Amino acid sequence: MDLQIFQDSIRQRFKLDFKPDFFRFLGDAVEARIRATEKDGLDHYLQIFKSDPEEISHLVNLLTNNETYFFRENPHYRLLTQRLIPELLKNRSYISEPIKIISAGCSSGEEPYSLVLALVEVFGEGVTDQIEVIGLDIDHDVLHKASMAVFGTYSFRGMDADFRNTYFNQFAGNRSVLKESIRQHVKFIQHNLADWPYPEQARGADLIFYRNVSIYYQMNTQDAIFENLARLLAPEGFLLTGAVEVTHHDIGKLTLKKDKALFYFCKETTTSELPAFLSDRSLPPAPAQDLSNKAAQSETKNTPIPATSKTPVTSDALTLEEVLALAEDEQWELALNKIDEQVTQHPNSPTAYSLKAYLLLQLNRDQETEQVCQQALEKNSLFLTPYLLLGLASQKNTDHTEAVQRLRKAIYLDPSCWLAHFHLADSYRETGDTEAARREYGVTLKLLENSGLDNHGLPFYRSHYTADQMSGICRDQMNKLALL
Ligand SMILES: C[S@@+](CC[C@H](N)C(=O)[O-])C[C@H]1O[C@@H](n2cnc3c(N)ncnc32)[C@H](O)[C@@H]1O
Repeated sequence: MDLQIFQDSIRQRFKLDFKPDFFRFLGDAVEARIRATEKDGLDHYLQIFKSDPEEISHLVNLLTNNETYFFRENPHYRLLTQRLIPELLKNRSYISEPIKIISAGCSSGEEPYSLVLALVEVFGEGVTDQIEVIGLDIDHDVLHKASMAVFGTYSFRGMDADFRNTYFNQFAGNRSVLKESIRQHVKFIQHNLADWPYPEQARGADLIFYRNVSIYYQMNTQDAIFENLARLLAPEGFLLTGAVEVTHHDIGKLTLKKDKALFYFCKETTTSELPAFLSDRSLPPAPAQDLSNKAAQSETKNTPIPATSKTPVTSDALTLEEVLALAEDEQWELALNKIDEQVTQHPNSPTAYSLKAYLLLQLNRDQETEQVCQQALEKNSLFLTPYLLLGLASQKNTDHTEAVQRLRKAIYLDPSCWLAHFHLADSYRETGDTEAARREYGVTLKLLENSGLDNHGLPFYRSHYTADQMSGICRDQMNKLALL
């Protein structure tokens, strides 16, 4: 039987370069489909294969290996509960958004359900409010099975009987059905991992289990899928492959890490990507910080900014320095032109994007401010300044409900940023939440008393008020609110 046409169509349609071994059973699979479709031999079947777009999927489903079971490669689940989830909870960049976990190539659901079970077992049922688990697979049939959550004994190879009795109910034919309290926390979506874009719900994953899938593919497809997954991952997110798959994925896209005998990948955000004035506070101050602090400390309108600094400066920092000087002089348009050059030269710098967004905000170019803030967040979602600027933009548009959301995110990233608390207080007051407004003016007051105006969170800050005057404003507001 000449099977080349099937091989070529599958490769083309799914953008997947399978290992030759994958097609070992192609002849059997085609014969099975001939029987299932009740066709009269190969030529007849070829007609339906060419005309029905669904048919190719049926054939691929027969070829893919869906082998899986609960708690397969068990040590990964220990790594998950003891190390990865605690780290993700600690570094969480979005308030009240759950940790997103993807099982990429989830087959009939044992892997994503094991993820929920492992977490519930260690952290209690309450953890389900803080996680979101999504299973992706190319194979529609296994996903259907996964969503039913009914499993035969073979799936329980890695699970002891007590555990099984706790979370499963008996089902017809010696099978077990997973309890609804666990089942409801996993969503399943059909998707070919080699395709981009991924479904919206999967974007910004914090943790990806991608195990025992790459084995089918030649190196170019392995790399393409891994690149997609690296892209899908949020900064500081983690990815686990099967033990035998680690080495061929160490291609420089993600950082390989080791915990005891286990390897995993991390999407590290390097310090150089973070703006000095917001990142590692133990580093010596960078020129931009010197400038912004001096500008803030001077608290006068036209204090000249010193052009030199004792700290060695890079050419990038020097140009930022120039832009800051222009901005300080209220030459917004000119500064914007300069920063555009910076953004072009350093398309991955969240600092440049944030300064650009700040300048756009000054020029009342609201829509562009929004866009550029989002771009800054794409570079680094742990960055306070874009959230703060987005909050200020919402306030300008008198959308105080949205401003509250955005400013709260900024505060989550840096609770000591007085300016974010001050504006949050204003927005709470506008929405009529007087208690929250008083509380936030109170926090602002304390921060100003402790550290003055320094930690404002913007690229630079020029206040017409001293720290004492700002504190006075907060006290006034608190008194007024107390009378309401
Ligand atoms: C061997 S199972 C592994 C299941 C689970 N990850 C585990 O380790 O137990 C591989 C699964 O990956 C799925 N798969 C293979 N290639 C895929 C692709 N390109 N996109 C999405 N799923 C794929 C298959 O359909 C199959 O269900």
